[in-house]
Amino acid sequence: MGDLLRRMLEECPGRYVSGQEVGRRMGMSRAAVWKQVQGLRRRGFGIEGARGAGYRLLGRPDLIEEKELVSLLSHPAFWKAFRFLPVTDSTNSRAVELAGKGALHGTLVCADSQTAGRGRLGRRWESPPGINLYLSLLLRPSIDPACAPQLTLVTAVALAMSVEEVTGLRAMLKWPNDLYLGDRKAAGILAEMSADFDTLRHVVIGVGLNVNAEQSSFPEGLSAKATSLRIAGGRSFSRVAVLARFLDSFAVNYGKFLAGGFGPLLPEWSRRDTLKGKKVVLRHGDKEMAGRCMGVDGSGMLLFRRDKGSRSERFASGEILEFER
Ligand code: BTN
Repeated sequence: MGDLLRRMLEECPGRYVSGQEVGRRMGMSRAAVWKQVQGLRRRGFGIEGARGAGYRLLGRPDLIEEKELVSLLSHPAFWKAFRFLPVTDSTNSRAVELAGKGALHGTLVCADSQTAGRGRLGRRWESPPGINLYLSLLLRPSIDPACAPQLTLVTAVALAMSVEEVTGLRAMLKWPNDLYLGDRKAAGILAEMSADFDTLRHVVIGVGLNVNAEQSSFPEGLSAKATSLRIAGGRSFSRVAVLARFLDSFAVNYGKFLAGGFGPLLPEWSRRDTLKGKKVVLRHGDKEMAGRCMGVDGSGMLLFRRDKGSRSERFASGEILEFER
């Protein structure tokens, strides 16, 4: 019922729709229509009511809905199923659960907010409602499990390209999973895989992208380090439009990865590599090492030269604790 009222209001934005007409088309009393109006307002729709004139739509929330998303995609065939959740603990957890129930390769799980969004290394990912993107992609690639970590970098390249396309800003990448705008982090990627010996069962790639967050919406400890498209770009962005560009970019870059590995995407990574040539502190296992980042190789490994070292070593995993700005 609320959907019919919403359609009627959206058909003529800014103009009044008479309460009587709404009631007639919905087969409802004025009091019942009023209840529907209240329901839409609670969902974030700005609706003005004027005695004698009716109702008019003044603003809509930044919703992410399947119909609009699909209409914006250039590569819709890649995506086999969509799950949109108003709230969940973690979209990665939901995607893993769906994978266990046989969900298809190319399933997208997207939530408006998360109560227990997870970052790398057990960190928490701030996930307030209405302003950002929290999503997980379920994939079932036929690749060697040893190559699965490269999917984090493939996703980062796809995300950087889509962010640049939408905002016109330069996105930088910090190995292995962070996207920076200027010197602040705007997005992170958390890939989780399930494998049986040498067979990959599935990979879940979680992406958290700060879209319309304002500086004041980050908690204290994060505020100096985090940014969003809105803060960096100086205007707000439609979440569904950003999501569509990312999903298209992912479909294209994933196709290149399957055809030729990470190598063909390396130039896209290297051009945005925020660590290349810089002094860094790398944590690997329980060791912390100071040295210089020499870039990333064609299999997505970090090239790192220790202080006083004469050659680069390659690291498949690790965490950059500090880097030169
Ligand atoms: C990081 O930078 O540490 C990775 C952050 C990944 C956050 C996203 S939000 C959607 C998905 N669900 C989660 O619980 N985490 C990822």
